[in-house]
Amino acid sequence: MTEDKFLIGSATAGGQVEGNNTNSDIWTQEYMKTGGYKEPSLNAADHYHTYRDDIRLMHEAGLNAYRFSFEWSRIEPEKGVFDEAEMNHYLDMVHACREYGIEPVITLHHFASPKWLISEGGWEADTTPAYFAGYAEYVAEHLKGENIRYIVTINEANMGTLIAGYLEKIMKHTEGAGLQIGLDLEKMAEQQKLAKKENLEVFGVEEAAVFTSPRTPHGDAIVCEAHKKAAEVLHRILPDTKVGLSLSVRDLQYTEGGKESADKDWEKDFLHYLPAIQDDDFFAIQTYTRAVFSAEGELDPAPGAPVTQMGYEYYPECTEHVIRRVHESFKGDLLITENGIATDDDTVRVKYIETALNGVLKCRDEGLPVKGYMYWSFIDNWEWQSGYSMQFGLVSLDRENQIHTPKPSLSFLGSFCRNRM
Ligand code: BGC
Repeated sequence: MTEDKFLIGSATAGGQVEGNNTNSDIWTQEYMKTGGYKEPSLNAADHYHTYRDDIRLMHEAGLNAYRFSFEWSRIEPEKGVFDEAEMNHYLDMVHACREYGIEPVITLHHFASPKWLISEGGWEADTTPAYFAGYAEYVAEHLKGENIRYIVTINEANMGTLIAGYLEKIMKHTEGAGLQIGLDLEKMAEQQKLAKKENLEVFGVEEAAVFTSPRTPHGDAIVCEAHKKAAEVLHRILPDTKVGLSLSVRDLQYTEGGKESADKDWEKDFLHYLPAIQDDDFFAIQTYTRAVFSAEGELDPAPGAPVTQMGYEYYPECTEHVIRRVHESFKGDLLITENGIATDDDTVRVKYIETALNGVLKCRDEGLPVKGYMYWSFIDNWEWQSGYSMQFGLVSLDRENQIHTPKPSLSFLGSFCRNRM
């Protein structure tokens, strides 16, 4: 295992790039009247078939790591029924990475779950941690001997809780800006009322507790339990693999009178998860922007401040700041598993990467245990409820002809590997 190599790469999630994840809850919701999706993912970037060529592009640009997800709904399409061919598909992705000198960083769950899990109560049900651990066990048994360095159990474990908080603010007609994901929260609030009937028809339950549903404190405890159970299994079967959890964390700042609100959000977004991650080997940071609080609460970006396609502030310094803050209370390894910008101007992306990655390398050079940086995302992709409207990619996507064309930012990211390692 190449323990010391600093990782520089890009990240994707199966549901956003593979195409045709027909057994997932999200795929199901894409076709529901109350699902809230702008457009369906269809064959996405067809990464399910193009992964070898895509990984070759990463290699040619000079990257040395790739974070991608295994899709639970492909591997366990029905409860307790595992699909060996789909598992082999993901093993082949690992092997393709090895052939090209790319370190695979695996995520076991990235927002999408099998449809059957939702019929069983989804991410609010007491049975879910054991189901998740069962899936983790099947995967781990197949990863024996593959020398996997890092596995992220759950992507942005706090997302449902964050969404619940923002929805509450919207219901109270206050500001809802700043969430680091392409979800339309106003629409979600409206749809919730109509959803029960359709959920019953489609999932057999009135409340479809998918991973990005507004989460209750009970659901939050379920997610933490799922992580802990899966981590135990992974440590037992793959003792040399480092296991960690990912959270969505913004760089929380304040002006006069705003410290209390900023501290409250840090507690909710990060500190509150410390008991669940205390035995982990690493923590996966996902950060895109900052939030500034005043005595009146969260401020909008200042007039004239640059904003990204996502509507939040352009603020690449967040990576360095969040690394420092997380390290105050978590002493294991740190990986930036997501950081990036949605923009149609690739020169802005290059600038963003340069600032973000220089901040990360500064932390590393000072001796902080930061071990890698994965830009989100490898390719322009399906940004959940925002559909194909966001351009996060280092590679552009011609969906009609499935042509994947590297942008200058891809080789710019690779140049850090060549020149700065
Ligand atoms: C998620 C990704 C998403 C990205 C950009 C993160 O919240 O993990 O799936 O595409 O942010 O919005």
